[in-house]
Amino acid sequence: MIVGIDLGTTTSLVAAIKDGKPTLILNERGKTITPSVVGFSETGELLVGEAAKNQAIAHPDRTVSSIKRIMGTNQRVTLGGKEYTPQEVSALILAKLKRDAESYFGQPVAEAVITVPAYFTDAQRQATKDAGEIAGFAVERIINEPTAAALAYGFQHQDEVKTILVYDFGGGTFDVSIIKMVEGAFKVLASSGNNRLGGVDFDQVLSDYLFEQFKEKEEVDLKNIEDEKMRLSIRQRITEAAEKAKIDLSQLLETNINIPFLYSEEDEPKHLDVTITRAEFESMTEHLVEATRDPVNESLEAAGMDKTGIDAVILVGGTTRMPSVKRFVIDMLDREPLTEVHPEECVAIGAAVQAGVKVGQLDDLVVVDVAPYTLGIEVVNDRFSPIIYANTAIPCSQKRRYVTVSDYQTEANIHVLQGNHKLASRNTSLGEFVLTGITPKPKGEAIVEVIFDYDVNGIVNVTARDRDSGAKKNIIIKQSRERMDLAEKEEARSMVSNVAFAPSMGEALPEADDMGDETIPVTAGKDSVGKSSAQIEAEFYLNDARDFLTDKGDSIPDQMKTQIQDTVRQLEQAISDNNEEKIDKLSDTLLMQLSDADIAS
Ligand SMILES: Nc1ncnc2c1ncn2[C@@H]1O[C@H](COP(=O)(O)OP(=O)(O)OP(=O)(O)O)[C@@H](O)[C@H]1O
Ligand SMILES: [Mg+2]
Repeated sequence: MIVGIDLGTTTSLVAAIKDGKPTLILNERGKTITPSVVGFSETGELLVGEAAKNQAIAHPDRTVSSIKRIMGTNQRVTLGGKEYTPQEVSALILAKLKRDAESYFGQPVAEAVITVPAYFTDAQRQATKDAGEIAGFAVERIINEPTAAALAYGFQHQDEVKTILVYDFGGGTFDVSIIKMVEGAFKVLASSGNNRLGGVDFDQVLSDYLFEQFKEKEEVDLKNIEDEKMRLSIRQRITEAAEKAKIDLSQLLETNINIPFLYSEEDEPKHLDVTITRAEFESMTEHLVEATRDPVNESLEAAGMDKTGIDAVILVGGTTRMPSVKRFVIDMLDREPLTEVHPEECVAIGAAVQAGVKVGQLDDLVVVDVAPYTLGIEVVNDRFSPIIYANTAIPCSQKRRYVTVSDYQTEANIHVLQGNHKLASRNTSLGEFVLTGITPKPKGEAIVEVIFDYDVNGIVNVTARDRDSGAKKNIIIKQSRERMDLAEKEEARSMVSNVAFAPSMGEALPEADDMGDETIPVTAGKDSVGKSSAQIEAEFYLNDARDFLTDKGDSIPDQMKTQIQDTVRQLEQAISDNNEEKIDKLSDTLLMQLSDADIAS
């Protein structure tokens, strides 16, 4: 049995195919939505969801929420005096959803498709996959939330041809994707977003305002009370009141926020009582809505269209229920969003559709997603050399050749980076490793091939190899500290499976059998533009050569310059003739010429 899971910052949902249709699964309280909150009761029993959320005010030290915000970092949270990784806390949520699904279907659930924001980084995706495995799932696929939303819509409209813009504003993240849907095939044209922008930021702004109001009126700074437990508990009460007021203001033009006995001084109780209008709230949070503009523009640009190219807009995420957000989208895209898509449910529904396709419960729908970031490596003089560009269709594999910079060099440091800046140091480091065993040759003559394999989950595997000796080394980027190795994962798994769920959390089923590999693979996407890898590689060198000639063309001997220009012309010709052999040879020549020119300049 396989399920689709929307593991959200504030709320999570699980769905599966039932009688041929994607269906949301009810939790132990009969609800489809489970708060992404984890806590331990006084006796050390695990609470997840509503029960944990309910104890957050009384026991902030034993409760944790919004864990998704720190996925992929090496931060830890303390729960009841014990430290947990973000993966472990997420795993506790996933383990709860697994139990809910098992008692709903009365059978073991071994596999899952889990969604992540399209703009999640490699580390965040890997952490999510680890969390699923720690919870005891075989994680069949990590899919992007906006893509899942489009799948939920597309599943009902399989005969349509449409370009859809998904605007996904949730509790903790903002994503935008442009997706072309052609009779059951879904191709993501572009994605952009912000991993740290969501509903909780609106709550934060309103909370800060409430703290200020209280300070003004009562002359007490609640942010600086000494008693830590009381401070946390007050913060929790204010945050909850702020979120409730925010939600009320989606319906009402004015609301009253009233927290009696918030604080007491010398036995004199003090209450918080503030009235706020929708207009006031909108003006203090306008910058948060406005912050979604650039990502929308970037994705339109990357998809090579303007707003007139969009046939339909889908709103996803609870934050899109805010009138100011709706207005913003309508103004910006000149279009009313579709109303048939449920903003909170569609991601889990789409995940279930993907899960159903994966195991052959549903007919083949083909999904081709894209890489959210540009990835590459560091080369001499702190330069960044891109290997896979953002918005390239995945899965994909791309190769690029490099030459040695010193005479008889036998080792090379491969530093993997993510970003768009020309300078390596301005991009984000994903990890590094040393390739050894390079054939000793004069500088510029030994060739090292670096290959990036992007899998369907958006996780990258990097290989470097000396072309002559074949010596090679590869990593699934996991050098960064936040990655868990196998032993750590195993330890976490035993921790999660040993935690006792509170009796209110429902019955568990015995461990699922290993179902083996009986799934039907979904057709993988072809490279977006149908170019061969040699062609793509050649285009890298052509770009480098053009850049070089513009930047430094005047600082090298004329003869060298003419040679490069000549090779560039021949290589362009070879590409247009589709002559693979020539492309390969000329790429090598150009690489050498550029290396010589670099030294001469
Ligand atoms: N009617 C409403 N008006 C304003 N905000 C709302 C409303 N309903 C829900 N929200 C907000 O939406 C957010 C939750 O949305 P959702 O459940 O889509 O997010 P999530 O899936 O948990 O987060 P993410 O997708 O970013 O990981 C919360 O911040 C909540 O306060
Ligand atoms: Mg969400």
